[in-house]
Amino acid sequence: MGNFYVVDHPLIRHKLTMMRKKDTSSKDFRQLLEEISMLMGYEVTKDLPVEDTEIETPICKTVGKKISGKKPAIVPILRAGLGMVEGLQRIIPSAKIGHIGLYRDPNTHLPVEYYCKLPPEMEKRRVIIVDPMLATGGSASDAVTTVKSRGGKNILLMCLVAAPEGVKKMQKDHPDVDIYCAALDECLNEKAYIVPGLGDAGDRIFGTK
Ligand code: PRP
Ligand code: URA
Repeated sequence: MGNFYVVDHPLIRHKLTMMRKKDTSSKDFRQLLEEISMLMGYEVTKDLPVEDTEIETPICKTVGKKISGKKPAIVPILRAGLGMVEGLQRIIPSAKIGHIGLYRDPNTHLPVEYYCKLPPEMEKRRVIIVDPMLATGGSASDAVTTVKSRGGKNILLMCLVAAPEGVKKMQKDHPDVDIYCAALDECLNEKAYIVPGLGDAGDRIFGTK
């Protein structure tokens, strides 16, 4: 089964609490999401492969380490996942960016895919799928299926707030995919929103409500 990690750090807890508040502005919400994504990026990249590289310091020759292999791919699930890209890109500036467009049907809560554009040679890359909300898990599970159908093998999911239902679905559908989040919340409500959650992440990022 895939590992499930809550990236627990005082800065992340503090920033997430500010994001949850209903009066937090779109501008602050976006900035906080970007900052948390950068902090979580440190954790989700901890096992990227490295290789030796010969360099010369102002003093002498020595051997350092550099990240090896193909550039990682960051794949946001549109729309809300876009809010996590900038923070991750700050620490992995050479990452390639793919996009998967999914929305939840408001009645069935099932994901509907409307867009997909991924970098080439996905099978050789570490793939980091990002979406702030893991609710029923339908969107994340479908996104992983899409990435796998394009060759992706080494995949992880980075989200902000997860519901137990979504974690369970992901672990059932994709036991090979590790999940990182900033908080595991209590449950889903009757509209499949995370409780206590932070509301509709896409609307809060883009000010569409
Ligand atoms: C939200 C969120 C996830 C999905 C999570 O997107 O960003 O993609 O819901 O729900 P699930 O785990 O039950 O599938 P939404 O469908 O609202 O689209 P948006 O990002 O375009 O607002
Ligand atoms: N999508 C969101 O944006 N928020 C939730 O709580 C659930 C799904």
